[in-house]
Amino acid sequence: MREPHISYQPGVLRLLDQTQLPAATVFVELRSWAEVAAAIRRLLVRGAPAIGITAAYGLALEGHTLAARTLDDATFIQGLRRAGEGLTSARPTAVNLGWAVTRMLDVAQTQVASGGAHGAVADALDAQARAIHEEDVAACHRIGDHGAALFDKAVCILTHCNTGDLATGGYGTALGVVRSLWRDGRLAHVYVDETRPVLQGARLTAWELQRDAIPYTLIADGMAAHFMQRRGIDAVVVGADRIARNGDTANKIGTYGLAVLARAHGLPFIVAAPRSTFDPALESGAGIVIEERDAAEMTTFAGARSAPVGATVANPAFDVTPAEFITSIVTESGSLKPPLTSAIAAMLDGASYAKAAR
Ligand code: MRU
Repeated sequence: MREPHISYQPGVLRLLDQTQLPAATVFVELRSWAEVAAAIRRLLVRGAPAIGITAAYGLALEGHTLAARTLDDATFIQGLRRAGEGLTSARPTAVNLGWAVTRMLDVAQTQVASGGAHGAVADALDAQARAIHEEDVAACHRIGDHGAALFDKAVCILTHCNTGDLATGGYGTALGVVRSLWRDGRLAHVYVDETRPVLQGARLTAWELQRDAIPYTLIADGMAAHFMQRRGIDAVVVGADRIARNGDTANKIGTYGLAVLARAHGLPFIVAAPRSTFDPALESGAGIVIEERDAAEMTTFAGARSAPVGATVANPAFDVTPAEFITSIVTESGSLKPPLTSAIAAMLDGASYAKAAR
């Protein structure tokens, strides 16, 4: 059986080191929240849902560390909060990170307030982190199936970045849609953008698809327009790192360009993401903080220098696609259609969601 890319036993979090793929399959073992935050920052684990799950396990580790010391309740909670802040600030754009940390801290706060012993609180944090993980896997399967249901014939999909097993608890969001189409015999083909500069498409998506024997073609990011014009692409399906209340969507740099190209070619542009990726606090994408990553990602390629010493570099890791370019957002509860502001409000309320869903 295949080892999951994230697994946890109290005291030890085991992660597949994604920076080493596809060359080597190496697992690392982490024992403190600070090691977990460093792993998230260094992209050993990446992808919005996956970093949320990982941060939850990071707090579970800290729960046991703090419970082993004799602390008063206030100091115990303060220690967890400090770890939560450190984990949340590891990467700024994906909302799943803060969402998972808040969920974990709420559990600790409630348990401590009701007189729970710190050891029992640590056990409750383990259970909560596992629940976050399991819920994400279930959500991804539903996203995949809802997304596949958008198409009534075999389709050729173009996707960007890595949104699969490795980016989630398992199965994937946009890649979950691809998997469900493949399972149902309705995936004509999938084109995978290599996704400069970190190559999540080439290194990770291609690796996953190959492992699962799903036929794909890897293309350079700049080839997307050509393939839309000449090679029969039916739809673009991507993931998301943070979705504002109006539907504006932050995702891997290059996503916005694909949305504009999809519009120019009359193709559906579909975002696939769990509810944990929606940010109810944000009215529009204007408020989304875009992570700026190290210049070395741009000036080196496979360890060799690819730009002159002293080159001036910009390296935003994400961009924001305005809601007007999005044909549908597929969630675990169904597919949201424009007008997205009201569809998202209905979903987040839960109330009239059935009407808003496809
Ligand atoms: O920088 P990364 O690799 O964490 O960026 C990941 C993406 O942008 C994904 O498309 C997004 O997180 C959705 S993953 C289901």
